Amino acid sequence: MPEDRTEQPHIVTCTAPVNIAVIKYWGKRNEDIILPINSSLSVTLHQDQLKTTTTVATSRSFQEDRIWLNGKEEDITHPRLQSCLREIRRLARKRRNDGDSGVDSASLSHKVHICSVNNFPTAAGLASSAAGFACLVYSLARVFGVEGELSGIARQGSGSACRSMYGGFVQWIMGNKEDGKDSLAQQVEPETHWPELRILVLVASAERKPVGSTSGMQTSVKTSCLLKHRAESVVPGRMVEMTEAIRKKDFAAFAELTMKDSNQFHATCLDTYPPIFYLNHVSQQIISLVHRYNKHYGETRVAYTFDAGPNAVIFTLQQHVPEFVHMVQYFFPPETNGADFIKGLPVNCASLSEELKQGIGLEPMPKGINYIISTKVFTHIYPHKQLLQHCIIGLL
Ligand code: DP6
Repeated sequence: MPEDRTEQPHIVTCTAPVNIAVIKYWGKRNEDIILPINSSLSVTLHQDQLKTTTTVATSRSFQEDRIWLNGKEEDITHPRLQSCLREIRRLARKRRNDGDSGVDSASLSHKVHICSVNNFPTAAGLASSAAGFACLVYSLARVFGVEGELSGIARQGSGSACRSMYGGFVQWIMGNKEDGKDSLAQQVEPETHWPELRILVLVASAERKPVGSTSGMQTSVKTSCLLKHRAESVVPGRMVEMTEAIRKKDFAAFAELTMKDSNQFHATCLDTYPPIFYLNHVSQQIISLVHRYNKHYGETRVAYTFDAGPNAVIFTLQQHVPEFVHMVQYFFPPETNGADFIKGLPVNCASLSEELKQGIGLEPMPKGINYIISTKVFTHIYPHKQLLQHCIIGLL
């Protein structure tokens, strides 16, 4: 008699990266299947610093689908979770019917238990939903034996999640079909393309954002004519320019477009009625610091971008990291000046000249920034051998 393996849970663990948009997605033309009003482009960050880890198990003994996020059971009936589960199961069934031997027929009829954790604060404007849904879709696909293009499913969990399915530099092409079949993510350049590029996440506040991106963009679509103008007349040209700047590794062009696009996104938030404020006084001080720093050197060495929260994401080249980090430390004196202020990739020591400090001419803002995460561009999602230990109780 062949052994009945279906009693044993089938378990898969994967990790997924965070992505930061340099051409922002803001606004949907279809809320149900998440279709955007403009294309967008992002950079995938290194998972050593920022990642979601998800374990998915299927078993004949499970009574219902269940999910735990950061150790707490959440409502699996959430429509976006349901869309992802339904689409992966549909794809698996289709492949099995087409004769794909990789699809695990037994587990197709089984319920799933899902367990997901982030190694960074949730809902602090650090794109946790992007890494979360990308990881969920990828892990579900692995557990059911489905391969191929999955960004269209991740998109239905959270728009920006489709871009976390790929590494390096990634565009989300808005598409124009009603069924969304052409609204997919695509790699523009791999992570090996621009190894000198560095990213610093300046964590200004780890609190939950006041207006979530989903409801924020809904109000913007309804009320902001600036957003309509941006989507129709500004973003198409910027997508071309940004792709070109990345291809040529032209930092000045990349940086300028990144800053302008972040500023325009926040301008559309201000043009929303009632207005939405994601930037706070620390964010504004960071913007001034970056512009003054670039002006001091007479070249664009550093760029900022902000999502739906006050944390800044800084882009720069490797050789400027030590000085810029020490500038941030000088102008935002932390509570403790220890190693805790700088997390992630090690940052070499640098001294700041009096001339530079004077040239910047800003008043230091004590404790404005909690810490910096130093990171770089990275590759895509991948499966892991180990099980996510601390949520095994929920899973089995
Ligand atoms: C400001 O992808 O979180 O980060 O599709 O409603 O889940 P939903 O929104 P989400 O929006 C991200 C908006 C942004 C810009 C971006 O990442 O492009």
